[in-house]
Amino acid sequence: MKNKSLVSITDYSKEDILSVLKKIEQFEANPNQRILKGKVVATLFFEPSTRTRLSFETAVNRLGGRVIGFSDAATSSSVKGETLRDTIIMVCNYADLIIMRHHLDGAARYASEVCSVPVINAGDGSNQHPSQTMLDLYSIYKTQGTLENLTITMVGDLKYGRTVHSLLMAMSHFNPVFHFIAPKELEMPFFYKELCHKLGITYYEHSDFSEEVINQSDILYMTRVQKERFTDEMDYEKVKNVYILRNKMLENSKPNLRVLHPLPRVNEIAMDVDNNPKAYYFQQAKNGVYTRQAIMCLALGIDI
Ligand code: CP
Repeated sequence: MKNKSLVSITDYSKEDILSVLKKIEQFEANPNQRILKGKVVATLFFEPSTRTRLSFETAVNRLGGRVIGFSDAATSSSVKGETLRDTIIMVCNYADLIIMRHHLDGAARYASEVCSVPVINAGDGSNQHPSQTMLDLYSIYKTQGTLENLTITMVGDLKYGRTVHSLLMAMSHFNPVFHFIAPKELEMPFFYKELCHKLGITYYEHSDFSEEVINQSDILYMTRVQKERFTDEMDYEKVKNVYILRNKMLENSKPNLRVLHPLPRVNEIAMDVDNNPKAYYFQQAKNGVYTRQAIMCLALGIDI
């Protein structure tokens, strides 16, 4: 794979995805190396983050590189009116790679077009979160032993949740069956359902979060209702507690079922699920470090 930005998961072919998974495995076995020595990585977070920013920064530190950037746009010159274009052109003067999260759909694509160094999209609005998708794929691969022919149930905010959009596109290479569980207001956008139709992927839509669907699933992918994407607080109040996974709901689930969540969780997974061996969301977040090591090395053209 040549040096390149990662803006959408569609920037990776199926072969790219499989090749990255192998590299993630290598980094998990050996996460402390000096292969980014002399490299400067900029993390530009125009939106809040815990896992994505800290796992990227941990990944750089463990590989001997250095990090510059901001975690709060209010401390950057964007508050003085500097455009995203000017900010990106400036940061290209300082860094070898840019990791960017922004509230606007398409902001990362735009940054990659004005930037002379690779850009990794760390989440743009409700559009895409491809590094999350790679760590989700790695978590699925690690727990299921394959990505092929799995039944994936996505629950919660399927409208605004960028992680489910990226994951659907990535899993489309691997003959999945999807169950989409969402209230009407937060259902999977038409674009993604149409994509399933075009690719011949089976999907079912439900408004009930039933054990019947859980019991058919290999992966139960829970999501938070994305409060920050609602323009009307009342609309958020109506759906915020719509689905809560409780431990007893997993009693008759398949032995290989794993519960994933990109996190942060609010209340959509009850705390009593955390000690169930099928709960995998904290390990999933840990896989983010190795995943981001692999993605950054590929973007920089560093072979391992
Ligand atoms: N999963 C994820 O993107 O988490 P953060 O918002 O904490 O980065």
